[in-house]
Amino acid sequence: MRIVILDDAEQVSEWTANYLVERINRFKPGPERPFVLGLPTGSSPIGTYRELVRLHQQRRISFKNVVTFNMDEYVNLPEDHPESYHYYMRRHLFDHIDIPNENIHILDGNAPDLEAECRRYEESIRRHGGIELFLGGIGPDGHIAFNEPASSLVSRTRVKTLTYETIAANARFFGGDLEKVPRMALTVGVGTVMDARQVLLIITGYSKARALRQVVEEGVSHMWTVSMMQLHPHCIIVCDDDATMELRVATVKYFKDLEKIAAGVQSDFSR
Ligand code: GLP
Repeated sequence: MRIVILDDAEQVSEWTANYLVERINRFKPGPERPFVLGLPTGSSPIGTYRELVRLHQQRRISFKNVVTFNMDEYVNLPEDHPESYHYYMRRHLFDHIDIPNENIHILDGNAPDLEAECRRYEESIRRHGGIELFLGGIGPDGHIAFNEPASSLVSRTRVKTLTYETIAANARFFGGDLEKVPRMALTVGVGTVMDARQVLLIITGYSKARALRQVVEEGVSHMWTVSMMQLHPHCIIVCDDDATMELRVATVKYFKDLEKIAAGVQSDFSR
């Protein structure tokens, strides 16, 4: 696992957006071979989306041949509700880039048969050849997508009941009113994320510090579902200093030194 520790959330957004642009461009996506990108919502990726839009405006990236699959969506919230993840994605990214509508996939939390909707979603990911890179965030309790503590670590896309902690954390988006936060969501499973060829997680702020410690310094546990990423062959965590508050000083130094060595090796090769 690679851990990139930067000064603040601003730097995290810039780093992540630049990494994605380079990764997509290097892939050279085309109509027959699109880049399949998994996407999250929440406050963590907003800065990254803003940067991606800026880089798109500077013509450094086109999304014409990018296919997206979002991680999750609330159940029973109209798509045009300002807090639905459909609305969020349009507002922060899709309305500002050149991605064709038919390339966008978001779970339908209003589908008449929610379980069939989840099966259809998994099938659609498979038909697109799997996810090349899954961008993610985490909840303060270490959940990835809506895979709450004690979720199966091999789970697939399914209906989940949200925990009190998640409802409370997300109430800020619903005018602070816990009653307005939906109680259920559709979410990709931990296994769905694990199947992506690469996972890139944005972890910023003090509120994520305990979760970051679990994923970096402790073992794999279903109580912190993001910790499963320890078993992923290609996972990068991009975090800010605040999120490292609970890590040992030696751990932070270890990962910062690794990045310095890697940067040195790269510049040696490019001489
Ligand atoms: C929700 C989403 C997660 C997201 C998490 C963190 O629970 N389902 O995918 O990672 O919120 O949100 P934030 O980035 O706002 O802390």
